Amino acid sequence: MEHEPAATQHTHELRRESFGKEFAWGVSTAAYQIEGAHDADGKGPSIWDEFTNTKKKILRGNHANHTCDFYNRYPADLDLMKAMQIPNFRFSFSWPRILPEGIGSVNQKGLDYYDRLIDNCLARGIEPWVTLYHWDLPAALERKGGWANRDIVGWFTEYVQLCASRYGDRVRQWMVLNEPMAFVGAGYFLGIHAPGRRSINGFLAATHHATLCQAEGGRILKGILPHAEVGTTFSCSHIEPFRDLPRDHKAAQRVDALLNRLFLEPALGLGYPFADIPYLRRMEKYFAPGDEDLLPFDFDFIGLQNYTREMVRFSFFTPFLQAKLVPASKRGVERTVMDWEVYPESMYHMLERFNGYAGVRKIIVTENGSAFPDTVTNGQVHDPQRVAYLNNYLKQVLRAKQEGMKVEGYFVWTFTDNFEWAEGYHPRFGLVYVDFQTQERIIKSSGHWYSRFLTNA
Ligand code: NOJ
Repeated sequence: MEHEPAATQHTHELRRESFGKEFAWGVSTAAYQIEGAHDADGKGPSIWDEFTNTKKKILRGNHANHTCDFYNRYPADLDLMKAMQIPNFRFSFSWPRILPEGIGSVNQKGLDYYDRLIDNCLARGIEPWVTLYHWDLPAALERKGGWANRDIVGWFTEYVQLCASRYGDRVRQWMVLNEPMAFVGAGYFLGIHAPGRRSINGFLAATHHATLCQAEGGRILKGILPHAEVGTTFSCSHIEPFRDLPRDHKAAQRVDALLNRLFLEPALGLGYPFADIPYLRRMEKYFAPGDEDLLPFDFDFIGLQNYTREMVRFSFFTPFLQAKLVPASKRGVERTVMDWEVYPESMYHMLERFNGYAGVRKIIVTENGSAFPDTVTNGQVHDPQRVAYLNNYLKQVLRAKQEGMKVEGYFVWTFTDNFEWAEGYHPRFGLVYVDFQTQERIIKSSGHWYSRFLTNA
């Protein structure tokens, strides 16, 4: 409580109007993290259903079978969003809800659900922003090799065509992939996300195939919907050497190439950053003739997702990278429940980097937010740390905008508390608190703050 006045003081300085009338304000979510209803109405299992339920890979055995039950509660949640005056809502389609086997027979009830969701947004004056792939691959496709199988380009094509023709009359804003570095890296190399594979070859193959799908998805959307705004989203963090030593500087450069450039640069026609990490050239064995020409796509916008900064040191024994991250907990800095450093300037630096690419037409901050230990006291949730976090990161967005950078939108991760992947329910990122036993929602002070900011009240 005692921090609240300090946190709210900052808020007076920021005004929505400083960002301009056209600036898009919203909240972001993803199907697996909020929907629940994991086997309702003909939905097929995804790799995340299997990873959490069968393989029990998640902290405290958490799964998202029910999570916030958004599948059933979306009308009330959209009412709340409207009451909070949030004009744009980013959510994803669950591929196995629409195509239970990934390809072939279509689940009519799954298609109908997204019709209702979109129509309910529009009826409340909320613009839907759809992500086509936010990590819940149909399990049936993983059994055929998943992202490591080149056939995924064809499977993904079928899914994207279906979505574009079904929903394109009402959805104008599309994103092809969410954070390919995260789902390929954590899913196929580190094994801490679904499908839990640890293989360097799997990682290299999946990287190339995801990059192909990213561009192909863009082409399909634009082909069917020439007036749509087509984007894709990338995770990114400002990276600095831990010590001012040449070997730490070089290590930081390699980590930057891996985390910040691997998926973005081929999309922009710059190819993979092989010069910085020569080991990645092994990816070329997965290239087919002509692939280089298929990697770029002229996206209308690039989604930038930033939370923190990373510090990097040289590490002789780390295979192929020879670098490792120095955790925030070891650096004595302010950090969130995720152990991510609170470092607002990271947002500015990444906007500057993305803005510097000639091929980037427009940047939307499609995610930014923080997990702090929220508690309910007398039916209220006071989260001054989150208010301060959002406020300070937003100031960096404004700084970039005022310097003329082409940033045109900002979405908070996330609307309600939800399932945070490998970390389960412990980190709460929401503007709205969820009691997962009763499904009660409580707007946190950060939610009230965002709402006041949006209404200029
Ligand atoms: C990245 C992901 O897109 C989202 O699913 C996740 O919950 C947030 N960032 C926070 O980690």
